[in-house]
Amino acid sequence: MTDPILEFEDVDIRYRTEKGNDVHAVNDASFSINRHDYFGLVGESGCGKSTIADAIVGGLDANGEVTSGTIRYKGEEIQDYSEKEFNQNVRWKEISVIPQSSMNSLDPVMKLSNQAVEMAKYHTDLTKTEAIDRLRELFEVVGLSESRIHDYPHQFSGGMQQRAIIAFALYLRPSLIIADEPTTALDVIMQDQIIDYINGLKDDWDISMLMITHDISVVFENCDSMAVMHGGQVAETGSVVDVYDRPRHPYAILLQNAFPDVRFPDRELAVIDGHPPQLRGEVDFCTFADRCPWAQPECREGAPDAQAVAGDDDHQAWCVRADEMEELAAEHLEPKAEEESILGGGE
Ligand SMILES: Nc1ncnc2c1ncn2[C@@H]1O[C@H](COP(=O)(O)OP(=O)(O)OP(=O)(O)O)[C@@H](O)[C@H]1O
Ligand SMILES: [Mg+2]
Repeated sequence: MTDPILEFEDVDIRYRTEKGNDVHAVNDASFSINRHDYFGLVGESGCGKSTIADAIVGGLDANGEVTSGTIRYKGEEIQDYSEKEFNQNVRWKEISVIPQSSMNSLDPVMKLSNQAVEMAKYHTDLTKTEAIDRLRELFEVVGLSESRIHDYPHQFSGGMQQRAIIAFALYLRPSLIIADEPTTALDVIMQDQIIDYINGLKDDWDISMLMITHDISVVFENCDSMAVMHGGQVAETGSVVDVYDRPRHPYAILLQNAFPDVRFPDRELAVIDGHPPQLRGEVDFCTFADRCPWAQPECREGAPDAQAVAGDDDHQAWCVRADEMEELAAEHLEPKAEEESILGGGE
């Protein structure tokens, strides 16, 4: 049974430009994140991942706008909240974001300890001492010295600011954490430590996560379900097991060949030729068509509709040839080891 915490339904997001040549950054995007799930959103640079994250929390750049479709959080349309309501009731408390760039997330003129006290005062029953203790505890989790809790953000390096933001994102124990390439500034050991910490709290907090990355192996190892994006379109969505075992969109298929696999250390990585198109003007074609070995004329004659894979509505591929892909891909995909799987499953 599905129990969505966040739903995207046919969402279009555009950025206006001075020349009137709008960027259609996200086109007809649909996916759904279930409560308690870790959901990975993967795709190469510029495909629209951060735009999606920003739209969820009303943080699009001033020239950006959700032009159609619906975004629902716990069944309520996010667009229905006023900015004030959203900031009071949802931001940080329900949904917190670890942004791709840590700049501007923290108040530059307030000590971090005071920012924690303010947050706690506003949203919790914690005493001042408890509020500071909670920050101390989280500083330890993210590898910051607790002696720095009374510092100002500018006294931290970029990597340390990123860690402080992660501490604040966890501070109010939100239901949904959006992590936009959160760990690019962190080393692998710290990434694992933070993910382990969140996993440890998953049951107590009923936490869900939208993990945004360009690295499909991170998603396979840490998430329960996922969406693959290409050129402003969702290409495929489903459980990680579905997408790993039965990818049906050509981009998802080729991506699997493009990442290093511990089971095949000598395998040469496939390179996906070509570039995604500039998303200026109407996107009424499959944005992968120019790079797709299996493209047909119809791929350029309209945006593809979602196809349920093997009749399963939870596993969808936006490809007109989804039904044929198993056969077509068999020639392309490396064999998978029978017994070993890299899937972590998120639990
Ligand atoms: N304020 C803006 N005005 C115009 N175009 C924008 C704006 N912000 C983003 N874009 C464009 O929208 C598209 C999607 O950008 P987005 O930042 O969402 O990509 P991304 O998938 O997060 O990439 P990355 O992996 O590099 O972070 C890109 O073509 C980008 O150039
Ligand atoms: Mg981004």
